[in-house]
Order: sequence, then structure tokens, then C-alpha cells
Amino acid sequence: MDPIESAASSVVIAPPAAGYELYAVVGNPIAHSKSPFIHARFAQQTGERIEYRPLLAPLDGFAQTVRTFRAAGGQGLNVTVPFKLEAHSLADKLSARAAAAGAVNTLRFDGERIYGDNTDGVGLVRDIEANLGVHFAGARVLLLGAGGAARGVVLPMLERGPRALAIVNRTAAKAEALVAQFEDAAREAGCALMGGGPAVVEPQPYDIIINATAGSLEAALPECDDRAFGRQTLAYDMMYGAQPTVFMQHAQTLGARVADGLGMLVEQAAESFFIWRAVRPASAPVLAELRSLLIKPS
Ligand code: ATR
Repeated sequence: MDPIESAASSVVIAPPAAGYELYAVVGNPIAHSKSPFIHARFAQQTGERIEYRPLLAPLDGFAQTVRTFRAAGGQGLNVTVPFKLEAHSLADKLSARAAAAGAVNTLRFDGERIYGDNTDGVGLVRDIEANLGVHFAGARVLLLGAGGAARGVVLPMLERGPRALAIVNRTAAKAEALVAQFEDAAREAGCALMGGGPAVVEPQPYDIIINATAGSLEAALPECDDRAFGRQTLAYDMMYGAQPTVFMQHAQTLGARVADGLGMLVEQAAESFFIWRAVRPASAPVLAELRSLLIKPS
């Protein structure tokens, strides 16, 4: 079979090797993505015959790139920056968590139909519960940020039954809008949900504090009362890097236990793999390998 070319976007997709099914992560830029590494490890581990590639879509050519990918035999996609909202619009059917997030990071092609899901929130929850051993049930949780990253994790967190969740953002109105959106889900979960600007932070240690602001990208610390951090607090940054983020460093000086978002990355990938293949890979060895590569790039 010849590679299929899309005239509109000039994206060329070679078919997979015989006997293999094709998946990819689509974004712009995409070269930095760790998803091809993670899914290659999952495939090796489980014996699933898949090929998983990075796929660069033109900024104005997401839908066309998805069509080209499907025409080449693609079975499913991970979707990353800046296309998660477009993927949400493109899907014919959405999971409840993708609808709540307003964004899609996983597409599965079911015949003519496109199923959209969002595995970011469940990835965060699993990393915190299964890998770090901290449980949401009964916990007091503080979520810093109210953009797309924050919105994507609220429903999966509420489903784990925290006692209280405060959503705090530099721009208070955006946190208040999230509180309005998730009011019903919080009531059902028996969770006291509140939100607003930094003044909403209570001056006693929380069990879990999650930094979902984009601050770490520019080494900026989101405003937050120091008394929110204590020895029993897990301070989790959704960002990751070779070095601890400024948020993690700050939390550590206040005595908190800290973690970055590398585990969330691996766990969201494991959930996508499950959505496509109905097989759950073991995430721990892949996370350990990724961590060592991050610290000591080869
Ligand atoms: P994402 O999809 O990564 O969440 P976003 O929707 O642009 O990106 O949201 C970025 C979030 O980071 C917002 O909560 C933003 O706060 P504002 O709503 O007040 O803009 C927050 N943010 C970004 N830089 C920040 C900084 N330096 N300090 C505090 N919050 C910051």
C-alpha cells in the first residue's frame, strides 16, 4: 500500500507493518512527546501488536490529519496541545469525564464513529493513590489553577470521595465557574466544594495540594498561604522535569512530601492503552525507566 497523502495538510502516513494496528499521538509540536516510548514499552510488555507514532498536525489541519490517519488504517489517537478542544468537538460520543473536562486526549475509531475520552484525571488519581499511596477518600484537597488542566481532573477526583475540595485560582472568576459546573457532582460525592481567589485557601495543612497552573513552565509559584502545607501534605505538581519544579521546592521547604507529574503521564497513557486494547499494562516499570532517562538523558 502507498502512503496516503492529504492534499490539504500534506501529512503523509505510512501504513503499519503487516499484522500490526496503528496508533499515534497528535499535537503541534510533537517531537518532544514521551508517549511513543511509553506505548512501545506497553506493547512489548503485553504482546499487543501495535505501532504507535508521533504525528505532527498543522495548526489549522487537525480534523484533516485525523481523517488522513483513519484512512491509513489508524485505530486510535492520543491528542495533545493544542488540539484537545478540537478533539472534543470531533468526537461523536464522549465519556462523562471527557464531557466534564471539555477536552479529549484519547480518540478511538469505532467503525464510522469516533469515541472521545479523557484519561488525564484518572491518570492523576491513579498516580496519587496507587503509586504514591495517598487516598482521596475523606481527604481535604486543594486544587491550584482553573484552566483546562484543572478542569480535566475535577470529576475523577470527586469520584474518589474527598471530604472537601477547594479550587483556587489567580483569576477568581474562573475557579468560581468550575465550582458552579461541578456543584452537583460534588453534592453526590458528599464533598464540600468551594472556590475563588487565593484568599479561599484555609490556613491549616491540606492532605493533598495539586498544582494545575501553568506557572511551573515559567518557574512561577502560584500564590498560596504557606500554612496550607504541612508534614502530612502531599504537594503534587502536574508538570515534571529533570529537577523538582519551583512549586515542589517551595512545598519541600515547608515540610511537605512532593511529587511531579511524570507518574500521571504514564498512568494516563496506561488508561488510553486500556481503552484501545482492553488490556492493562503495568505502569511501574515504565515509570521507573522514564524517570531514570529524565534524570540521565542517554
Ligand atoms: P492549562 O490547559 O495548562 O490549564 P490554561 O487553560 O491556559 O492552561 O490555564 C492556565 C492556568 O494556570 C490558569 O489557572 C492560570 O491562572 P489565570 O486563570 O489567573 O490566568 C494559571 N497560571 C498561569 N500562570 C500563572 C502564574 N504565574 N501564577 C498563578 N497562576 C498561573
